[in-house]
Amino acid sequence: MKKMASSIHVVKHNLLLQMFYSLMFIITINFKSTRADKLAPALFVFGDSLVDVGNNNHLPFTIARANFPHNGIDFPGHKPTGRFSNGKNAADFLAEKLGLEYPLPYLSMRQNKNNNFSSGVSFASGGAGIFNGTDQLYRQSIPLDKQVEYFGTVQEKIVQQLGLQQAQKTLSKSVFTIVIGSNDIFGYYGSSTSSQMKKGTPLQYAASMLLAFKGQFKRLYDYGGRKFVIFGVAAVGCCPAQRDRNKTEVCNEAANFGASIYNKGLLSALQYYQKQLKDFQYTYFDTYTVFLNLIEQPATYGFKESKAACCGGLGNLHAKLACLPFSTYCSNRSDHVFWDLYHPTEAADRIIVDTAFSGPRKYAFPVNVQQLVSI
Ligand SMILES: *[C@@H]1O[C@H](CO)[C@@H](O)[C@H](O)[C@H]1NC(C)=O
Ligand SMILES: *[C@@H]1O[C@H](CO)[C@@H](O)[C@H](O)[C@H]1NC(C)=O
Ligand SMILES: *[C@@H]1O[C@H](CO)[C@@H](O)[C@H](O)[C@H]1NC(C)=O
Ligand SMILES: *[C@@H]1O[C@H](CO)[C@@H](O)[C@H](O)[C@H]1NC(C)=O
Repeated sequence: MKKMASSIHVVKHNLLLQMFYSLMFIITINFKSTRADKLAPALFVFGDSLVDVGNNNHLPFTIARANFPHNGIDFPGHKPTGRFSNGKNAADFLAEKLGLEYPLPYLSMRQNKNNNFSSGVSFASGGAGIFNGTDQLYRQSIPLDKQVEYFGTVQEKIVQQLGLQQAQKTLSKSVFTIVIGSNDIFGYYGSSTSSQMKKGTPLQYAASMLLAFKGQFKRLYDYGGRKFVIFGVAAVGCCPAQRDRNKTEVCNEAANFGASIYNKGLLSALQYYQKQLKDFQYTYFDTYTVFLNLIEQPATYGFKESKAACCGGLGNLHAKLACLPFSTYCSNRSDHVFWDLYHPTEAADRIIVDTAFSGPRKYAFPVNVQQLVSI
């Protein structure tokens, strides 16, 4: 009798435990699903090394690579992935903000027959530009025109998977982000060889960048993209590689001027398209100003060093060499704005994306990303 009572007691106890675990399970699932609340069905990323998540690992001839240490030293798993950063880049932060997985590189996804692009993919490639041929220096990249062409293939695949109507609906709510133009600016201002200068005056060069970009953008719209997050070109004349060209370590003002006239044209093109193209919505991010703020007032944003690269080699600015396995690197990556001679640290990119996501209208115009996805 006594034995039975105690075994009933055990059963009851187990039942209670089970209920407890089920409850915890349900709570965990709910918690997870709130955390992973998607603000958009998908994120499609176009651009250059600022947002490359590993496409260039698949290009046999490129020298624009980051799939070796010390890149990725602060990335989950401490692994080099092909990101030109110590950790996450702007594409990763944007995905995080949207409640999506980190974007995967298109060139690795397309190798898998059962690939599923309906939550997004990245076409971004180190060395890429609006123009084909910014990659001459890097031997190989995926220029923006090619990235758009690849998206055409992905769009077809999504239509096959979801049917035309559902695909259109999904794409219209998805976020298309474009981070491009720095390499085109470097192509004109970045070297002292005069051959590039023959492409016209700075104004003519910016105008031809813009003309090409408009064509590329328009194709993405025609494929069904409606919500665009477009980053202006940063004050690229202030990256360590450009400062290093002058003994006084000042920013390359000509390159900064080139970036700013292009940005002006870009913003007015977007304003024009919003009136012209049905349902087109955008966030234009003033990368130039926000990034320059980090460089000019580092302490305000928690940085100690905004001129020199963290990882690299030689010279005051460690900007004569890329970040290579034998390079030295700074011990605290969070107090540097620049990871290597061209690219921001994870810490800088976090601030950039936070500002794009929920920052004021003067930086994220006419709406920030949070507002864009809720339209
Ligand atoms: C593709 O992924 C989406 C969401 O990420 C999912 O709803 C869908 O079922 C997947 N399709 C296939 C064929 O796996
Ligand atoms: C880049 O090359 C492709 C294919 O050769 C061509 O169709 C396209 O117009 C070129 N783009 C630019 C911006 O020159
Ligand atoms: C270096 O910077 C100084 C001061 O801004 C400027 O006068 C000079 O032209 C620059 N030199 C080069 C080679 O850009
Ligand atoms: C690294 O730098 C950040 C930002 O300046 C600072 O908050 C942090 O305390 C530093 N960490 C160490 C270990 O010094």
